[in-house]
Amino acid sequence: MWDSLYLDCHLASMDPAVNKPFGAIRNGALAINDGTIAWIGPESALPDDALTRAKVVHRLNGAWLTPGLVDCHTHMVFGGNRAHEFDMLLNGKSYEEIAAQGGGIQATVKATREATETELYESALRRLDRMRADGITTIEIKSGYGLDRETELRMLKVAARLERNRPVRVMRTFLGAHAIPKDHPGGRAGYVDFLINQMIPEIAKNKLAHAVDGFCETIGFTPDEIDKLFKAARSHGLHVKLHAEQLSDQGGAALAASHGALSADHLEYLSQDGIDAMAASGTVAVLLPAAFYVLRETRLPPIDGLRKAGVPMAIASDCNPGTAPVLSPGLIPGMASTLFRLTPEEAISGMTIHAARALGLADSVGQLRVGFKADIAAWAVGDLAEMCYWVGSTKPLFTLFNGQLAYESHEYRLLKEG
Ligand code: NIG
Ligand code: FE
Repeated sequence: MWDSLYLDCHLASMDPAVNKPFGAIRNGALAINDGTIAWIGPESALPDDALTRAKVVHRLNGAWLTPGLVDCHTHMVFGGNRAHEFDMLLNGKSYEEIAAQGGGIQATVKATREATETELYESALRRLDRMRADGITTIEIKSGYGLDRETELRMLKVAARLERNRPVRVMRTFLGAHAIPKDHPGGRAGYVDFLINQMIPEIAKNKLAHAVDGFCETIGFTPDEIDKLFKAARSHGLHVKLHAEQLSDQGGAALAASHGALSADHLEYLSQDGIDAMAASGTVAVLLPAAFYVLRETRLPPIDGLRKAGVPMAIASDCNPGTAPVLSPGLIPGMASTLFRLTPEEAISGMTIHAARALGLADSVGQLRVGFKADIAAWAVGDLAEMCYWVGSTKPLFTLFNGQLAYESHEYRLLKEG
């Protein structure tokens, strides 16, 4: 038996073993059982008893089904916002200058420390619901606005609570190495020691995060500090990933690759050596066009070099109060196309198959394939390029999470009512 069967639809399976582009199956059918995909293929190839095998049959009027979108890089739990810094940015102050004046990450650290768990949870829940309405079924959430034990743990706890209360997969990342807190008793070296000797062991032991991230930059942590941090993370069985080469070339991506990192993210200043190291280790390049846009960056990540080297490229919202106040992750494929010249297939791969890989979920999420999670988004578009083409996020008709309806648009509800 199947729990459900979807007919009268086209499938963008994103499965590399299926037709290019998009792993597309026109006039497809997809069956779900027990939260996973049980059958996928052309409708004409369905077994004869398909209609009786399914408990429920849905006809989709020619909609496209894609894997549910995966936003593999966000900082969406935070206190306050930084709208008050926006005019500084517009008046030509750089991100580094604003940080040096006590703004930037430190300003959000202050607001996040002051926020209660409930305040953090409620504000993040509103953001999450907007993001889910854009087709997101898996989201990564980083800590990194606490920079002390209590607040970092509070952020991770909020991320876990979001997952318990909404049909969405949340992958938690510990970003204690986001900035050096002004008030750590041991100063810079003491803070790095504290991350390595206290936070990472505690987080690993209690399974509070899946991965450890850092900000390798002149205004963040040195490659040497990140190297020590990543050694500790790996020795405790945690994945690593890195904010690398966002504002300057620190050799961060190659360093991350040497630790088998899942991803290196941003990458505007990535060198050919960095590309080669990422290709050799299978590290995903996570490109963040919204941060590029907000910072009015002019240097493009080396897209062609990444392409030539065969480095998988993911794209993500980077949702955060400083460089990417984005609540519409559905904008990101279009931004990646227009700003970074990704083809629509590359852009959609970037928020499905490659984003799943950037989270260590390559074997279960990000493709429509038998045995994979039935995390699915349905789109009323004639051509998948429309997901990149319309300026303003294209909204899904509905999403499924583990085979269950997780979000339904007003339009779809009206369609169902006829
Ligand atoms: O991904 N660059 C470091 N971290 C974030 C920004 C965080 C912030 O400004 O609050 C980013 O761009
Ligand atoms: Fe980030």
